[in-house]
Amino acid sequence: MGCSCWPGSSSKRSANKNMSKEKKNNISSNKSRPHAQTQASSDELKVCAYKTVTKEEVAKDDQLSVDVKHLNLNDDISKDGYSRNRAQPFTFEELTAATANFQSDCFLGSGGFGKVYKGFLEKTKQDVAIKQLDRNGLQGIKEFVVEVLTLSMVEHPNLVKLIGFCAEGDQRLLVYEYMPLGSLENHLYDLSPGQKPLDWNTRMKIAAGAAKGLEYLHVKLDPPIIYRDLKCSNILLGEGYHPKLSDFGLAKVGPSGDKTHVSTRVMGTYGYCAPDYAMTGQLTFKSDIYSFGVVLLELITGRKAIDNARERDEQNLVAWARPMFKDRKNFSRMVDPLLQGQYPVRGLYQALAIAAMCVQEQPNMRPAVSDVVMALNYLASQKYDPSNHVHSSRKSMPSSAMNMDDDKKPVSEHELDSC
Ligand SMILES: Nc1ncnc2c1ncn2[C@@H]1O[C@H](COP(=O)(O)OP(=O)(O)O)[C@@H](O)[C@H]1O
Ligand SMILES: [Mg+2]
Repeated sequence: MGCSCWPGSSSKRSANKNMSKEKKNNISSNKSRPHAQTQASSDELKVCAYKTVTKEEVAKDDQLSVDVKHLNLNDDISKDGYSRNRAQPFTFEELTAATANFQSDCFLGSGGFGKVYKGFLEKTKQDVAIKQLDRNGLQGIKEFVVEVLTLSMVEHPNLVKLIGFCAEGDQRLLVYEYMPLGSLENHLYDLSPGQKPLDWNTRMKIAAGAAKGLEYLHVKLDPPIIYRDLKCSNILLGEGYHPKLSDFGLAKVGPSGDKTHVSTRVMGTYGYCAPDYAMTGQLTFKSDIYSFGVVLLELITGRKAIDNARERDEQNLVAWARPMFKDRKNFSRMVDPLLQGQYPVRGLYQALAIAAMCVQEQPNMRPAVSDVVMALNYLASQKYDPSNHVHSSRKSMPSSAMNMDDDKKPVSEHELDSC
């Protein structure tokens, strides 16, 4: 667990070093500067989402109090029809009580920003997950603000809900809805004895749900947002393995007008970061599609995005998978052995075809998120029944489900049709 970030931005936190200094210099800078040391924050996010926040106000040293002050804490209905529950402020005392003083029994895990505890809110009789930012960390605070701002303006069944936050003294905590099944990572790798591996149908359901969360950010939200941190540990699972995307501290407002990208410092997680973004610092919606493709590959293969315990040429999942996509004879060798052969052959080919399109080297060759959603919705609807799998897996994916030019498809229709 945790964030193993792209070399060159040694960690999420280190990439945010000198944030307040940079903020003053770069607040509205959106010029193309490959590898520029511009901060990776959503400065634009603040300005766009909260138009009443002026540049002068944001440039003040106490950025947190400015940002949090401008959060509208009332519920409202957004124009996309989802109701938005604004994050509530909590006192540190309330959160201490909720976690029995951050008792080790309540510890759920830790990541780049600090430790996560399970808590219970007496007031609302609700289980929650409380993330306490590491106070000794250098720059968790910016992600804290972006997280509160982003999650305060979004509401979707496939995005984790931020219930509240605490910004008291030097304490910074985030209070989320509790996701009882933990992260997808916990269900794909290093299973505990007796833990059942995810079956094929559940994997497709998780992929389709995660894609829907991403679609909301990319096309339904105004302004649209690039997520930048899509990975298995950020897909949390609720009852029935309902997936929700979490951790929006790196989110960034997408390019507007005729701009094709946003220039930022390269941030993200090694193994999930699109090569074009890593090389140029030019962030596009297609950077998220690449990361999604890596997650889909992990779901199919049961292999980690980066696995240093494997042979050298198998350590990087995409590098291992790409040559395998070329010949369908390889496909059955790519599937997670934990599935023990319980998968639909055609469904596997189709899922691999989608993953292959998403992880293409050229960003413009990757599909748009809505096409991915359509294709995965279709795959998730084709329930695999191990006792009757010939019939349940014979249907073709509707051509509209992958509305792409043939030359964008690394796995051809013929490959799919002949299975
Ligand atoms: N809302 C939540 N509900 C339940 N468990 C959570 C929640 N948020 C985080 N966790 C658990 O805490 C762990 C650490 O989370 P996080 O700090 O986001 O780090 P990372 O994403 O790097 O794993 C997760 O892997 C997950 O097991
Ligand atoms: Mg996380």
